[in-house]
Amino acid sequence: MSSVKKEVKRVTTHTLQKMKAAGEKISMLTAYDYSFARIIDGAGIDVILVGDSASNVMAGHETTLPVTLDQMIYHASSVIRGIERCFVVVDLPFGSYQSNSEIALASAIRIMKETGAHAVKLEGGAEVTDSIKKIVSAGIPVMGHLGLMPQSIYKFGTYEVRAREEKEAGILSQDAQALQEAGCFALVLEKIPAELAATVSAGLTIPTIGIGAGNGCDGQVLVMHDMLGINTEFKPRFLRQYLNIAEQATSAVQQYIRDVKSGDFPNKQEQY
Ligand code: KIV
Repeated sequence: MSSVKKEVKRVTTHTLQKMKAAGEKISMLTAYDYSFARIIDGAGIDVILVGDSASNVMAGHETTLPVTLDQMIYHASSVIRGIERCFVVVDLPFGSYQSNSEIALASAIRIMKETGAHAVKLEGGAEVTDSIKKIVSAGIPVMGHLGLMPQSIYKFGTYEVRAREEKEAGILSQDAQALQEAGCFALVLEKIPAELAATVSAGLTIPTIGIGAGNGCDGQVLVMHDMLGINTEFKPRFLRQYLNIAEQATSAVQQYIRDVKSGDFPNKQEQY
């Protein structure tokens, strides 16, 4: 008897480029572990982002700043073991690329070598283009990230919408062009006015992935814990919550506690 191996057509940077050209929207979600990566990839997502939001939703930190390169590598290698088809991008965490392009390249190489991921993402505009060029010249695809950049939260001082003012909007548009020229294969646009995001997206040949940036982007990303209702305290206007896992898990755990206390669990069929 011969076993027929299922042929899986993997998503690549080329696929994402073709999707933009064809006007097909790109779906992206974050994931940080094997089990959820399996579910999300199995559901047919195009891109998984192993975001440095792991610092918030996995480790309980207030900001993304504390997560380390070693911790991101742990999360990313777990995700990679759970996927078959989607494209996996890993955030370069705060402090792993800002010093200079050599350090940025060394961090990106560690991620690619130790996790098996397909690309890295970093935050910033013109000031990070040297690092992007260096990483891309080593054959590593880079996703950029503009608008609200959580690694700069202490500089911004607020998680409010960015680039509402003409001056900041102009700088963002120039930065988007600079990132494309530096070799980014895609850009995340976070929490900026929908009109600006649509104009920036239309002016680029590479795809943009929006979060709180409206419907004119070439794709959308959400943090998995927010859209599945695992983390229910975070309710920004841009978030659509598809499930309330926190509520369902709480009642399941409460039922389990009742069953243990009453002696109902385990029953005869649940023991040897
Ligand atoms: O870390 C993250 O989850 C992100 C997304 C919000 C884009 O960067």
